[in-house]
Amino acid sequence: MGRFIDGGNHMSVVSLEVHDQVASVIIDNPPVNALGREVRAGLLDACRSIDQDPSVKAVVLSCKGRSFVAGADIRELGKRPLEPYLPDVLAAIEGSRVPWVAAIHGTALGGGLELAMACHGRVTAPSAKLGLPEVTLGIIPGSGGTVRLPRLVPMRTAVGMVTGGKPVEAEAAFDTGLVDALSNGNLLADARAMALELAGQGDPVPTLSRRLVPGDPVDWTVEEGRLLKRSRGATAPLEALATLREGADLPAAEALSRERARFLRLAASHEAAALRHIFFAERAAGQSLKSVDAKPVDLTHVGVIGGGTMGAGIATALLLSGSGVRLIERNATAVEAARRRVAETLAGSVKRGVVTQAKADDALARLIPGDDYAALADCPVVIEAVFEDMSVKREVFAALDDVMPADAILATNTSYLDVNDLAAMTRDPSRLLGLHFFSPAHVMKLLEVVRGGATGARALATAAALARLLRKIPVVAGVCDGFIGNRIMAAYRRDCEFMLEEGALPHEIDAAMRDFGFAMGLYEVQDMSGLDIAWAQRRARAAHRDPSERYTHIADRLCEAGRLGRKAGKGWYDYSTGVAEPDAEVLHILEEESEKAGRIRRRFSAEEVMQRILGVMQEEGRAILREGIAESAGDIDVVMVLGYGFPRHKGGPMFMAGAR
Ligand code: COA
Repeated sequence: MGRFIDGGNHMSVVSLEVHDQVASVIIDNPPVNALGREVRAGLLDACRSIDQDPSVKAVVLSCKGRSFVAGADIRELGKRPLEPYLPDVLAAIEGSRVPWVAAIHGTALGGGLELAMACHGRVTAPSAKLGLPEVTLGIIPGSGGTVRLPRLVPMRTAVGMVTGGKPVEAEAAFDTGLVDALSNGNLLADARAMALELAGQGDPVPTLSRRLVPGDPVDWTVEEGRLLKRSRGATAPLEALATLREGADLPAAEALSRERARFLRLAASHEAAALRHIFFAERAAGQSLKSVDAKPVDLTHVGVIGGGTMGAGIATALLLSGSGVRLIERNATAVEAARRRVAETLAGSVKRGVVTQAKADDALARLIPGDDYAALADCPVVIEAVFEDMSVKREVFAALDDVMPADAILATNTSYLDVNDLAAMTRDPSRLLGLHFFSPAHVMKLLEVVRGGATGARALATAAALARLLRKIPVVAGVCDGFIGNRIMAAYRRDCEFMLEEGALPHEIDAAMRDFGFAMGLYEVQDMSGLDIAWAQRRARAAHRDPSERYTHIADRLCEAGRLGRKAGKGWYDYSTGVAEPDAEVLHILEEESEKAGRIRRRFSAEEVMQRILGVMQEEGRAILREGIAESAGDIDVVMVLGYGFPRHKGGPMFMAGAR
């Protein structure tokens, strides 16, 4: 049994114990050992106690629970920093008279990696991940991360890690020099051995006293150009690059204080507040699913009906998560096409390096395509993803009601149709719900879970389990035309057409949206996906349209002129030169429609365009909340950011409206 040292008043989150000259400092602050004030104070107390105890020769720093420190406590960011500050704690550890070795398992992120880098040695479990994800929260490392990292790894690696924010695997961390050893056995014993070895080498060497790691030079201008393009208006990645660049030419102490000043400025920025909002909104999403009191059905075998883009994508997502999939199509030709689509999607993932060939082969081996509904009888859940047409879907659910066991869960991937109407096709409507996936379904993180009037607890529990299995973020939506996302999109799409009628041009609206931070403008997206489906929907609804409601015929005119988008070589733009160009025929249609509607065309500034779009999104969002379609404003933001390209660093339309 070791000897406990009095480490002050923070022993509940940081404990200190000495065994045979080696002190164990253990952080225990569930769930992810974030470096809140108590932890910082505990570490400082432990460091002081160790420095006053001549019997201690070395220190192993480790964490309890599932992970090493996953960063600063995000709830504290943006508020006035509380003492002791992390840079001071790290300075004390780095300046300790004995070597500290970090024993890393799980994730060492942000302040967690900064803490590990302030230690004199690092050992990791092979499954560990290490990273500086601060830019994803609108900030930069603020406790020496940008100064210590290039003293451990080449500057090029540091640039990638700090500006991209993506964690690296333990093995890559070892290869680049970020960690000194990989543990294949007992992490704590290996860390102890390293600590004693360092103790035998004389005074510990502070990371800050090391020189920058030599390596290929960084072309800062090229990097800046790359980030400008990629960050879509987010400033943190560029600030991170500037900090590294500036720090490279400065003495460490000066570099540290410049980094800190920048960090504090960014932590108080609107961008950082927006990104924190989305971080917590994503984790709070699907709130009502968390308290559902029912057991989900088994997801080992799942049925999918329809092998088009959505069905094949959903099947791929399920296969990659370990489920077996029975994929049903109408006939042998369609079955083969569906199987090929899944195989091609998997091959694409292998090509992009996100899935290994072995994993793709294993996934494909679990796909059983066929054309007989009876084969679905052993699937406890079936997801329908056929053509978006009410009568087709009704037929599917009537057939499913006949073949499926009475307790199977039935889901529809409809993106706007009435889920209650489909539920009426089954004898037990409590087992039906909507699962609205986004394309490509094996990539996109959002899942709208549509709760029908009769949807029961088992169906909801199954949706929650499915989202967990597929690592998607579920947002619960009530039944209405378009649920949360498509309803908001329909509203601003309509308003954009009103702007076209009033004088704006498609490329002006697109440019305004891109400048705001969307990856693409509305009309570029429409051209890419094709204008015909929305046209068919408008025609189907024409009979129910309120004649007193404002309606523009612009999009209909484009379709009538064969301008169905990229696939037709023309849509809102002309593609005859291979790139999107504004087109005189479109302008002519706009002018004619403005005249028919009695509108005098005028110019729109980018600012006015975005104000209109945001205003409509927010107004529709408020209506959705009032009607109980969405459970929270945060859920609406999550939908818009994850499903509709709303720039994450702006926090979502409701965050911008101040409704949190
Ligand atoms: N500060 C405060 N709370 C944090 C946190 C942090 N740095 N990191 C995670 N949490 C909370 C989450 O809000 C969640 O709380 P909840 O259960 O009340 O919703 C809980 O810890 C678990 O997090 P979750 O993301 O759901 O778990 P996970 O296992 O999927 O992922 C991490 C774990 C650590 C990979 C992930 O939480 C993460 O990336 N955290 C942020 C890391 C980061 O950016 N650090 C730098 C901060 S400057």
